[in-house]
Amino acid sequence: MIQSLTIPRPDDWHLHLRDGAMLQAVAPETARHFARAIIMPNLVPPVVTGAQAEAYRARIRTATPDSFTPLMTLYLTEATDPADVVAAHRAGIITAVKLYPAGATTNSASGVRDFDRVRAVLDAMAEAGIPLLTHGEVTDPEIDIFDREAVFIDRVLDPIRRATPGLRVVMEHITTADAVAYVQSQPENLGATITTHHLVINRNHILVGGIKPHYYCLPVAKRETHRVALVQAATSGDARFFLGTDSAPHTDDAKESACGCAGCFTATNTLSILAQVFEEAGALDRLAGFTSRNGPAFYRLPENTTTLTLQKSDTPVSYPAKIESGAGPVTVFDPGFPLYWRILD
Ligand code: DOR
Ligand code: ZN
Repeated sequence: MIQSLTIPRPDDWHLHLRDGAMLQAVAPETARHFARAIIMPNLVPPVVTGAQAEAYRARIRTATPDSFTPLMTLYLTEATDPADVVAAHRAGIITAVKLYPAGATTNSASGVRDFDRVRAVLDAMAEAGIPLLTHGEVTDPEIDIFDREAVFIDRVLDPIRRATPGLRVVMEHITTADAVAYVQSQPENLGATITTHHLVINRNHILVGGIKPHYYCLPVAKRETHRVALVQAATSGDARFFLGTDSAPHTDDAKESACGCAGCFTATNTLSILAQVFEEAGALDRLAGFTSRNGPAFYRLPENTTTLTLQKSDTPVSYPAKIESGAGPVTVFDPGFPLYWRILD
């Protein structure tokens, strides 16, 4: 039985760090274990220009050690200037561009309503090799929230990819067997991130026995068959699936509310949880692919040369239940089972 595992230092290909005191509080939780992270641009107001991304990156650097590299993204709007995107990429300021359909999730009011209006940006990105990261949910009120990802694939994503076939796309935080099958059916210029929490919870965890606001995120967790499909994809060794935690801190006040915010904060215990998920699937030898190899390969970046060791212990690993953020406590994701993999850093 494997008791210790050394892997290239992981990267998080989808992370929310926020700003100000919250940034200072949560960024060290990721930087402790991860070498790089793709930083989401859904601040208020959102990060929409290269200059704003550069300034945000500087603020992140004040909250993290030099060993951590934030990889910045721009928030795509109908007013995004293709030339600014390409210049920011060429200058090494941004790594990717994020597409939020307007109204899909936290701070997405400036997102895209009419996808034809971003066509010129997408064409320029395809030309320059800049990946588009999608929040894959339609926002049509007629569409049931549990169907929004599958409908997005048919109505939005597939048409975008047909119109701009050279575009490199990452389907972020996939939650359905439909998304897994779509990725598997497509060429190499399509990848997908999977979160830690979607590998662990299904919709019953949110709703049975009382509503659990700390399990509510978007896209919302689906039924168990979809969770199983995600575990199979993540542990399959298919290089198109890689870790994007979508760790998204909100204070307890904002979560435990009549209209609670979406987001699970998993930065603190993600790697211990993943080791356990992969161990249970008999796929510990594929953990490094998911956390440390497949992402850099998709992004055409080198793998990290530093390593991280995970060690199995007989007694449960302890981790804080909450992180103090300056604006109130942030609850750390509870997987619902004890964790036995300790991260030696
Ligand atoms: O659960 C989520 N939280 N999903 C998102 O897409 C956004 C995120 C956030 O920023 O809180
Ligand atoms: Zn996110």
